[in-house]
Amino acid sequence: PPGLWQIARGRGFTFGAAVQANMLASDPLYAAAYEREAGVLVPEFEGKWSVLQPKEGEFDFSQLDAIINWGQARGRPVRGHALVWHEAFPDWAVAAIAESQQRARSVMAAHFTRVLATTRLRIRDWDVVNEAVADPPGSDTPQADGELRNSPFFRALGPGYIETAFRMAREQDATLRLVLNDYGVEEDTPWAEEKRRRLLNLVRDLVRKRVPIDAVGIQAHLQMRNPFNPVVFGNFLRAIRAEGLSVLVTELDIREGDSVPDDYVARDRVVAERISAFISASAEAGVRTFLTWGLVDRFSWTVVEAAVARRDGKLHRALPLDWEYNRKEMWR
Ligand code: XIL
Repeated sequence: PPGLWQIARGRGFTFGAAVQANMLASDPLYAAAYEREAGVLVPEFEGKWSVLQPKEGEFDFSQLDAIINWGQARGRPVRGHALVWHEAFPDWAVAAIAESQQRARSVMAAHFTRVLATTRLRIRDWDVVNEAVADPPGSDTPQADGELRNSPFFRALGPGYIETAFRMAREQDATLRLVLNDYGVEEDTPWAEEKRRRLLNLVRDLVRKRVPIDAVGIQAHLQMRNPFNPVVFGNFLRAIRAEGLSVLVTELDIREGDSVPDDYVARDRVVAERISAFISASAEAGVRTFLTWGLVDRFSWTVVEAAVARRDGKLHRALPLDWEYNRKEMWR
């Protein structure tokens, strides 16, 4: 049977997934799964600052190139992730950004210029700023002062750093798709409602200032323990699109938590129903691109970073392919 990306394409959608260069090179079953299913590839960390510029002025494109070359050989485009992300700065960059406004600007300019000049013929779509919106109170992440995250560039340049970043990216190439990517806006909780309000505020402010932004990326790291309301979510996406931007789903996956059945078959079914409701609501609101954060359960970041969330010892099943690389209910 055809892969997800072909099925999606046949219905006017794009499907792709985040990928790891080292796995692509070392695990033939993993590579085969991507070849079969993924129409677009997103570097899971190979496009981040710490990988591309680990030391000031010393750039390393080898891992990103590996993904681009693998994709080019199979006609699969790569999208860029991410130019500015607070979690991906090496220590030298955090220190340099903190020195002065002028230094912060020149560090950003140097990174953007080199990365976009090097990749712009092969990567046409970038997450320019990732996770700019601060988490509302009630989460376990550190509190920021206002609606925007208290990140290195925010501290150096104020809220205008986002505008600066998009303008710098646009200067490198007038036709790149420039995306503002964020999380936590998908579900029907007061926390997510506040996060939606903040993201929409930011989007409207950028649009009003004519900042060159083309789309909003919705990460969509879903959690079964939270309720999902397709009407609420759909209205939010429509509000973004009413500002003239498109919306992509950029990092879809799901954490089952403890509220799902232990039995894998039953669990996969309820999880797939949730994913289905999410995709339908997004598609009805005009989303045409769906990217998952990984493809094979075994390699999901939820296994590494959220394993503690599952107390029953069962393995996370966050993605369309199971631990043995087989298509499961979510794939369908
Ligand atoms: C994660 C990767 O999956 C991990 O392998 C890495 O160690 C940390 O970053 N939101 C994002 C992604 O935008 O960049 C994150 O990726 C997952 C959450």
